Amino acid sequence: MPRIISPSFLSADFLRLGEAAETVNRSRAEWFHLDVMDGMFVPNISFGLPVVKALRKATDKMLDVHLMIVQPERYVADFRAAGADYLTVHVEASTHLHRTLQAIRDAGMRAGVALNPHTPVCAVEEVAEMADMILIMSVNPGFGGQRFIASALDKIGRMKDLLLRKNSAALIQVDGGVNAENAAQLFAAGADVLVAGNAVFGAEDPVAAIQQLIEA
Ligand code: DX5
Ligand code: ZN
Repeated sequence: MPRIISPSFLSADFLRLGEAAETVNRSRAEWFHLDVMDGMFVPNISFGLPVVKALRKATDKMLDVHLMIVQPERYVADFRAAGADYLTVHVEASTHLHRTLQAIRDAGMRAGVALNPHTPVCAVEEVAEMADMILIMSVNPGFGGQRFIASALDKIGRMKDLLLRKNSAALIQVDGGVNAENAAQLFAAGADVLVAGNAVFGAEDPVAAIQQLIEA
C-alpha cells in the first residue's frame, strides 16, 4: 500500500510560498495539495490558477489540485495548462460529473472525485471506474485547521468495498483534520493518500511532521 502525504499549502505562509515548496521538496511527501476555493461552493476564497502555475515551477512532485468551486468543468483546460497532475472536483458541484471526469482524463490529468461529509459513498457508484482517486472529506470544506469528523473513518472501508466491487483502482484520499494521532488509523482503514495542512505547516519542523505521518 502506498503511503502518500499531500501537504496542503492552504496552511502555508503565503508570503513565503517558495520556501514552503522547498521544504516539501526536501521531505518525503510525494504530492503538493492545492486548495482552490471560489467563495460560492465554500464560504472561503483561497487562490487560483496563477498560484498553481507558480508552484508548478517550484517542484517536480505531483500537483494535486482540489477544486472547491461550482461548475468545475469550466476550468479543466486551464488547470491542465497551469500544470495540475490530479484534478479533483466535488460530486456536489458538477451536474454532469461523468462528462467532467472524462474531460479531465482527456486533458491528460488524473481525475479525482471529492465527497463532502454528508454525501454517501453510493454517490460515486456510477463513476467509480472513471475515477483515479476518491477524496473523502473529513471536515466540511472551506478552511484549514478544523477538527476531524470521526464518521469519515468508517466511510473509508465502505468506499474500499465499493471500489473493489466496481473493479476500480482509484486511490482513496482523506482530507481535513489529519494529524499524527489519526494517521495510522486512516492508513489501516484503507487510505492511500493523506492531506495534511495544519499538521505539516503548523509544525515547528514540517519535514519531521511529514515523516511522522508516513511512519504513523
Ligand atoms: C479544507 C481543505 C483542506 C485543508 C486541510 O477545505 O480541503 O485541504 O487545507 O487542512 P487541515 O489539514 O489543517 O485540516
Ligand atoms: Zn483539500
